[in-house]
Amino acid sequence: MRRHLCVPGTLFMGLLLAGTMTFCQTPKWTIGMSQCNLGEPWRVQMNADIRKAGEAHPELRIIFKDAQDDNLRQSAHVEEFVRQKVNLIIISPKEAAPLTKPVADAYHSGIPVIVLDRRVMGDAYTSFIGADNKKIGKAAGKWIARLLKGTGATVELKGLMTSTPGQDRHSGFREGIAGSALSVIFEADMKWLEPNARKEMESALARFPHIDLVYAHNDPGAHGAYLAAKAAGREKEMLFVGIDGLPQEGQMYVKQGILSASFEYPTGGREAINAAMDILAGKTVAREITLPSRVFTRENIDRGGEWLKE
Ligand code: FRU
Repeated sequence: MRRHLCVPGTLFMGLLLAGTMTFCQTPKWTIGMSQCNLGEPWRVQMNADIRKAGEAHPELRIIFKDAQDDNLRQSAHVEEFVRQKVNLIIISPKEAAPLTKPVADAYHSGIPVIVLDRRVMGDAYTSFIGADNKKIGKAAGKWIARLLKGTGATVELKGLMTSTPGQDRHSGFREGIAGSALSVIFEADMKWLEPNARKEMESALARFPHIDLVYAHNDPGAHGAYLAAKAAGREKEMLFVGIDGLPQEGQMYVKQGILSASFEYPTGGREAINAAMDILAGKTVAREITLPSRVFTRENIDRGGEWLKE
């Protein structure tokens, strides 16, 4: 016997209405989001922040692309967005120099471009959003100098030095420790990656019998250094400081006693969507949007960290 599916009148009307509503909410704007990689928790968080902020705007469609840490692939993604005629581009670039031209070309073609976290060169973009890496590096340097009472042997594990946060976290740190008796006995570019940091730290441990502290440009780097020291049975001899301060990463390491401090580097995902909505509505947004950051230490973590001052 055939069975008929009966939809009561009101339910039928409801379904019809729901269908119509979906139709009415066809996105008005398309944003192309080019992420330089999704291999690190911080970038996964940035995309999640963008997605969440975007969900509040049903008139928005966001196309996410992952460049897998490849400048050429990321350039191609930007060019593809231009060909697709998206209404706005958000990009968190891998390196400044190779991404400058594709971003400038997109901007000159009339598509607004928001550059997030790492910079490109020149000024052919609509708005740059990010925290002040120089200030964070300097605050880290000062905090470390105070912690070590102005003297000691440090290791600096640098982020990719062809990306602007790496350069600024380095120069800021050096400014922060200037005038103290702290020395940097070993420095290496670990390119933001935990396995590289671990390897570089193994070299530092092999060369130096005494290390007081490791300053890494991000929390994965600090954690990699910690793992190397632990494997050598030397993790208690030294302290570890990182940057990013994600709740599930840096903040957790501070709570666990692995890191002495983590300096927050906000992803800017929510702010990028807010700025995008303003630009799409024809409003002018600031050329530079600088996000504040906190420091999380063992002492202040339970009260939510402390904001960095000028
Ligand atoms: C992730 C990351 C973060 C760092 C940021 C700098 O790719 O390495 O850990 O804070 O990039 O751009």
